[in-house]
Amino acid sequence: MTYRTRSAAETAEVGARIAAMLSPPAVVMLIGDLGSGKTTLAKGIVQALGAAPPEEVLSPTFSLVHEYEGEPKVYHLDLYRLDTVPQLETLGLEDIWEQRAIVLIEWGERFDSELPGVRLEVRLDYDGDHGRVIEIGTDDAGGQQRSSQSI
Ligand SMILES: Nc1ncnc2c1ncn2[C@@H]1O[C@H](COP(=O)(O)OP(=O)(O)OP(=O)(O)O)[C@@H](O)[C@H]1O
Ligand SMILES: [Mg+2]
Repeated sequence: MTYRTRSAAETAEVGARIAAMLSPPAVVMLIGDLGSGKTTLAKGIVQALGAAPPEEVLSPTFSLVHEYEGEPKVYHLDLYRLDTVPQLETLGLEDIWEQRAIVLIEWGERFDSELPGVRLEVRLDYDGDHGRVIEIGTDDAGGQQRSSQSI
């Protein structure tokens, strides 16, 4: 499924639609260049799920792992600043995979084999300054017909 958006608000709205497709446990890989809208989309998903951030806890992983309390619980990981697998291992993500949670991951494709294989992939591409093309679940090698819609 492909969406075309013309503003950050529209991208967040696509996030709400993705939220409606998710049932925990679920992992969503957000894939796209710097500034393509991954965080904007993640915020749209979190908001639509009605999850609220817990008290901030000071920890080294603080800015890499954001935890949102709700039913389901939502984690938002931004792995941009990680370079190596040992660095990734310091995050203790095993605890997260064991939970019945929704996990949103930016910059995770570089650690493909360390992350759960069952996941939804969302790709964001630039289409001019304010335009984005957002493709959901591109792994449909079965040749399913794709639909394209604007919101
Ligand atoms: N159609 C659009 N969808 C999403 N963001 C848009 C759109 N048009 C403009 N923007 C702007 O692009 C920026 C997207 O930033 P965002 O932090 O969501 O990107 P990102 O992919 O998470 O970047 P990074 O790789 O640095 O984490 C915001 O400043 C947003 O206002
Ligand atoms: Mg981001």
